[in-house]
Amino acid sequence: MPDTISFARGAPSLDIVDIEGLKAAAAAAFDADPGGTTGYGTSVGYLPLRTWIAAQHGVAPEHVLVTNGSMQADAFLFDHLVSDGDPVVVEKPTYDRTLLGLKGRGADIHMVELEGDGIDTAALRSLCESGTVPKLAHIIPNFQNPAGYTLSLEKRRELLVLAEEFGFLIFEDDPYIAIRFAGEELPTMLELDEGKGNVVYASSFSKTVCPGARVGYLVGAPDLIKAIQGIATNTYIAPNMFAQSIVYRFCVDGGLDRSIATVKAALAERVQLLTAALDRELAEATYQAPEGGYFMWVTLPEGTDVAALFTAAAERGVAFVKGTDFLLEGGENSLRLAYSGVTADQIDEGVSRLADAYRSLSPVTA
Ligand SMILES: Cc1ncc(COP(=O)(O)O)c(C=O)c1O
Repeated sequence: MPDTISFARGAPSLDIVDIEGLKAAAAAAFDADPGGTTGYGTSVGYLPLRTWIAAQHGVAPEHVLVTNGSMQADAFLFDHLVSDGDPVVVEKPTYDRTLLGLKGRGADIHMVELEGDGIDTAALRSLCESGTVPKLAHIIPNFQNPAGYTLSLEKRRELLVLAEEFGFLIFEDDPYIAIRFAGEELPTMLELDEGKGNVVYASSFSKTVCPGARVGYLVGAPDLIKAIQGIATNTYIAPNMFAQSIVYRFCVDGGLDRSIATVKAALAERVQLLTAALDRELAEATYQAPEGGYFMWVTLPEGTDVAALFTAAAERGVAFVKGTDFLLEGGENSLRLAYSGVTADQIDEGVSRLADAYRSLSPVTA
């Protein structure tokens, strides 16, 4: 059995992690601020990093809480806002861990169709008008996980209008924003909201620096951040100061910009190779090529059994995540391919194995 080629993990391959830069940032962090790097710190995070993030978003530091990865930020936010039976809107499909987190808290989850230019805002309006106003709408605006689609400027504005009109909070979950390798940059909904408090924003250094750092953050209204800070204090006193101090040095010493350039160049090449290989080897597959991020959503003909494809693919040494994992129902003929964790030289072989697995299934009769 050949080594598995994994299109499953939403993580960078080791060749695009700046190990030497991180080692230098770690040494600089201990030299520049030994006390801050080794102490408990505070529950809002390493203060210089908090201030740096606030400046990036044009807000005061009181709007920012730095956490152990943005997953922790999501969990705190859900703990604070979502109780059993609360209606919550997510995109259809959406990030599997968001679904799990909301299910675990007993939320009444409403999945609203994700289109090529983002969530179907007309369907969200109909849902609100029918009397189901969510407490929270979870939106992944850039290079969505799992679909790779990006929310258009028009729909960003429409979502803000809906949030204001019906009184729900938009949770803008945006870890991929910096990984744009094609097309035009768009403003965040946090920015477009101009401080009205309709948006709470999360992002992360996992996709730009490395996931092992576990550094992410929330930006929101100071009263919301203060309330969540209370949960953070009771959970862990303070997040990991080692990691945050190193990430801070990496940011201010130019490592972050270099790292983003490396990741973008690699992923642009990988997506180009991936789409070319699919067109050549698996012409039945349809997709919308992403302009950034880590993922591409692939749809196979109606009637394809993605669970059977998953098994056949594993037997041939290729992995992906089944579309069904990102939905409450449906998705049997779709899959998520992550091109972040494969190197360019693995892509052709990986797609050949996938195509071979697909051809091994009983023909689709739909
Ligand atoms: C949409 C989305 N939100 C949050 C996360 C979690 O990121 P972190 O590593 O910062 O916890 C991910 C990771 O894949 C993600 O895709």
